[in-house]
Amino acid sequence: MTKIPNSKIKQHAGDILKSKTFNSQKKFMQHGNYTTYDHIVSVAERSLRYAEKFHLKVNEKSMVRAALLHDYYLYDWHNCGGPLKCYWHCLRHPHEAAKNAKKEFDMTKRELRMIKRHMFPCTFLPPTSREGLLISMADKACAVHEMRERRKLKKAAKKAAKKA
Ligand SMILES: [Fe+2]
Ligand SMILES: [Fe+2]
Repeated sequence: MTKIPNSKIKQHAGDILKSKTFNSQKKFMQHGNYTTYDHIVSVAERSLRYAEKFHLKVNEKSMVRAALLHDYYLYDWHNCGGPLKCYWHCLRHPHEAAKNAKKEFDMTKRELRMIKRHMFPCTFLPPTSREGLLISMADKACAVHEMRERRKLKKAAKKAAKKA
């Protein structure tokens, strides 16, 4: 089931949510049974939750827009072609995402930097803003959650198969 963005996300990123290319991410798988679209909406929501939880003053609009576009590389990374190429994907996709975001949407330099640096420490470039740090943290937490869900589903399927 496709994730529905909350009202804050709709308020800050209506133009992005309407884009046909952006919506094409509903067909790419990210982690487990989650599509890239589900993942990026989760990261935007979680970044907002973190800011609230830690009482941090952030530019919500910038954070939401960068979170929604942090993985805007527009392909299914599972087809990257072997472990070495997948590692290359890990290093390169933040730049690819920023390039695609800049081409299609009205993005600030600061927002593009949040996208480019979200893969820290994998890419050695740390976030330079509060918003970027929250996106990077939310991204990892969402990835772990999504992979855990997949393991749970696999376990349940195994159990059901044994019973049958
Ligand atoms: Fe990423
Ligand atoms: Fe991500």
